[in-house]
Amino acid sequence: MSENDPEVIPISDGVFKIDGRYHTLNLVPSTSVYGEDLLRVDDVEYRNWDPARSKLGAFLVKEKSLPFRYDSEVLYLGAGDGTTVSHLSDILTDGKIYAVEVAKNPYRNLLDLSKKRKNIFPILGDARRPEDYRDLVEEVDVVYQDIAQRDQVEIFIKNLDLLSEGHHGLIAVKSRSMDVSSSPDKIYQKARDELGSRGFEVVMQVDISRWQKDHAVLVIEK
Ligand SMILES: C[S@@+](CC[C@H](N)C(=O)[O-])C[C@H]1O[C@@H](n2cnc3c(N)ncnc32)[C@H](O)[C@@H]1O
Repeated sequence: MSENDPEVIPISDGVFKIDGRYHTLNLVPSTSVYGEDLLRVDDVEYRNWDPARSKLGAFLVKEKSLPFRYDSEVLYLGAGDGTTVSHLSDILTDGKIYAVEVAKNPYRNLLDLSKKRKNIFPILGDARRPEDYRDLVEEVDVVYQDIAQRDQVEIFIKNLDLLSEGHHGLIAVKSRSMDVSSSPDKIYQKARDELGSRGFEVVMQVDISRWQKDHAVLVIEK
């Protein structure tokens, strides 16, 4: 390590803080997935996790921790092009990400990503129909959802059947997708009530609107 190298502070499995920004250890060196900065320190390559491009990245900046381990199995709903999935792929070196995406175009990018990153299992499917992928997924350690639909909370609840007891589910709630006329706080409370009435206690609510307009992440424990 040269004396000019920045300090690399380990945060959790695969996650590091360098120069005040969060990074994951790049599983596929020399490759940037969505134009993020690559940084090499002491012959190890890191990818900057941009909170403006990833709600989970914003959650990390705000909370300074994440509920993922190197061997976690994760069900990811609304995977898109795989921006956030790629960082989870860096973290879960001995785990799996079942990445569900309904739209064909982003799914194609996800499929390309999964060819280089063997811990990503892309599923072209509708998260409203967990019965279509339940046999493949079985039970996971974390459910994460990022779907901007009016019935986003209902979709999340349906998928919590696939979450192991005692584990966590995270939903990035987009308030304006649920109701444009109500305040975000009222909508988050409505989402919490809906989850609570189905037996899922919300243990954390994290406002990420500084990076992701009209969004909060709710964390439930099953
Ligand atoms: C905000 S984007 C996802 C961005 C991605 N999570 C990331 O951080 O890299 C939301 C995605 O949810 C997908 N989506 C919407 N409804 C869905 C559904 N019913 N089932 C699965 N995916 C859905 C959309 O096609 C879109 O790609």
